[in-house]
Amino acid sequence: MADFNEQHVFITGGASGIGFAMGQAFGRRGAFVTIADINVDRLDEAVGKLSGEGIACGAKVLDVTKAGDWAAAVSAVESESRPIDILCNNAGISQGSRKDGNAIMLADMSEDLFRLVLDINVVGLFLGIRAVVPGMIERGRGHVVNTASLAGLIAPRGFSAYSASKFAAVGLSESLRAELSEKGIGVSVLCPGGVQSSLVNSSSERREDTIGQGSDQAAGFLSERPANPDTMLAISVGERVVEAVAANDFYILTHPEYAPLIEERFAAIHKAIGTSAQPGYRDPQRLLDASRNLAYLD
Ligand SMILES: NC(=O)c1ccc[n+]([C@@H]2O[C@H](COP(=O)([O-])OP(=O)(O)OC[C@H]3O[C@@H](n4cnc5c(N)ncnc54)[C@H](O)[C@@H]3O)[C@@H](O)[C@H]2O)c1
Repeated sequence: MADFNEQHVFITGGASGIGFAMGQAFGRRGAFVTIADINVDRLDEAVGKLSGEGIACGAKVLDVTKAGDWAAAVSAVESESRPIDILCNNAGISQGSRKDGNAIMLADMSEDLFRLVLDINVVGLFLGIRAVVPGMIERGRGHVVNTASLAGLIAPRGFSAYSASKFAAVGLSESLRAELSEKGIGVSVLCPGGVQSSLVNSSSERREDTIGQGSDQAAGFLSERPANPDTMLAISVGERVVEAVAANDFYILTHPEYAPLIEERFAAIHKAIGTSAQPGYRDPQRLLDASRNLAYLD
């Protein structure tokens, strides 16, 4: 079993669901865990639970979309305990659905909601990386885990904004892995399927606190739903993340039953690779060389 003694793990969205489970899994292996979240009540409760298990931990209130929150939180936790060794950029929201269970289609979605999903799920990752990774580069070690989703590898109907944000999380992570590997820093991207969590409730809270119902009023959002017992336990995902960081795995896939759906997407892309739009033309080799991501060949 991997040992994370003397390691400081900083987890956003750490007060609930997958983030909290990562905290438990790293903490049970000796790490000092900082959970950061925008919801103060959930954060207090979560720290209580971790401490109750004997896990050394702290908490920070943080909105991942605010650069100032990141700067304050990172400087405070790094002086209170030790530099961050592992950053889990996990906070995120769903795009929501209607009370009747129907999806919110892109053509019906408000600009506010689209921007909110992208702000938390993508800009939040960027700000976390900018706040924490320069220190890792200076120290020549560290690991970043970005939580995407299977919706970052396939884009089902009714997931347009969410998939746009999670594809961005995957793309950002793929490029970042290539940028940081030469600096001794690992990057993993987590792409789970269904997991028991409070995502419906917490996404609804974020919507209410920021944009309200706005022009999405007519959508009649589903705002509360208990964790779906038919989906995977969050702790199973947390445990897998810990193993993946220990092994410096690139993609963290927890639900192999989706493999055929991912293959269908690859096959559709492959089928579209035909002849050059300009017969006889091909990009110069230097462009191809610059486009190659060696992280795919790890
Ligand atoms: N649950 C699933 O089925 C599933 C599947 C794939 C991916 N994911 C992803 O997993 C991540 C964690 O979600 P979860 O399912 O554990 O949900 P969750 O609601 O249990 O936890 C998400 C936490 O993120 C926090 N958060 C939201 N916006 C924030 C912000 N701006 N700043 C700081 N904290 C914020 C919430 O307060 C909440 O505590 C998300 O990125 C989600 O998209 C979830």
